Amino acid sequence: VIIGRLAPSLLEKLEEEGLGTPCAVVDRTILEANLSGMASLVADRGCTLRPHFKTHRSIEIANRQLALGAKGLTCATVSEAEVLVEHGILNIFIAYPMWADGAKAARLRALQEKAALRVGVDSIESVERLAATTKGGPTLEVLIEVDPGCHRSGVHPRDVLRIAKCAESRGLTIAGVFAYPGHAYGGPNEVEPAAKDEQNVLSDASEILAGAGISISVRSGGSTPTARLSAGRDISEVRPGVYVFNDRQQLALDSCRDSEIALVVLATVVSVSVPGAFVVDAGSKALSSDRLPWMEGFGVVRGARDLVAKALYEHHGIVKAFDDGRRPEVGEVVAIVPNHVCNVVNLFNELLVVGEDGELERWPVLARNIPW
Ligand SMILES: Cc1ncc(COP(=O)(O)O)c(C=O)c1O
Repeated sequence: VIIGRLAPSLLEKLEEEGLGTPCAVVDRTILEANLSGMASLVADRGCTLRPHFKTHRSIEIANRQLALGAKGLTCATVSEAEVLVEHGILNIFIAYPMWADGAKAARLRALQEKAALRVGVDSIESVERLAATTKGGPTLEVLIEVDPGCHRSGVHPRDVLRIAKCAESRGLTIAGVFAYPGHAYGGPNEVEPAAKDEQNVLSDASEILAGAGISISVRSGGSTPTARLSAGRDISEVRPGVYVFNDRQQLALDSCRDSEIALVVLATVVSVSVPGAFVVDAGSKALSSDRLPWMEGFGVVRGARDLVAKALYEHHGIVKAFDDGRRPEVGEVVAIVPNHVCNVVNLFNELLVVGEDGELERWPVLARNIPW
């Protein structure tokens, strides 16, 4: 059985609990170290940590992040924010270009009544709609999204003032500006330039606003690979998500070490009938099909970098054998480091969290598959 640092009794524990593979297993010791490592790095830089909830979707982890000094949580969706509020977490930034229409508008309005809520905007139209939705309610703060070169969403710094003026005239409070440097995921050599890009666009945007007499307190940057580089450097807040577990993408970006991988998917070998490979019971419904264009495969067996999941069907993962033909036998269990942990967590109902002494806790994954 290739299960690395996981307690050897784990498989018996899973059986006792009526659980089996594939499952998402978290090493609690590594998780705690990742949480406190990021919290102290960000605090040492005089920066605020507002971690992204979409990675773990777990109240247990959100509460640990807050206890370690996080100011509040970041979300991508109204449904994630609703779950946080339900569990008493009331300081929330929905870092997404909000389009408050239909039922979503009503749900946002309800959240506004209960939580200290910040929302992302990147157009005049979204500001107008948001203002109409939230009028008469408690203060709702907006952050204007700036594009640092990721070209996903966000405006050029020169367009921030137009949006800010509209927000002011409609009675919205402008807390600041935010950016997501997703182009850091272009490869290990892209991380540093992407961090610089986010620092530059956020400081350009805040200078433009200051020049027009609009002073802001928040310059919020994103992403796990860039957080360590950007925290405190013209950036007042960082929103990393993946750092809690890390994954194969972070390894490939040199953004974490093997010893910092806190989540693996346990999978059982179900077939060795094809030479040069073996088949595990974790396919795209357990590992997700997410893959950066420059990376090969969909996951790797922990501690065995040759054993790459080279193809996925829904319920079959085809893993390459060692070059000399060695491979696990049918019935063995392997621990797979997934490419992108956020999508993997979203595929499971619970995280199986294993402590140092082998005790197993089951933490529910919340707001999964409600992507709005
Ligand atoms: C707006 C925003 N902020 C923060 C993050 C977290 O970054 P990472 O996934 O690199 O941890 C994301 C991730 O997609 C994001 O979209």
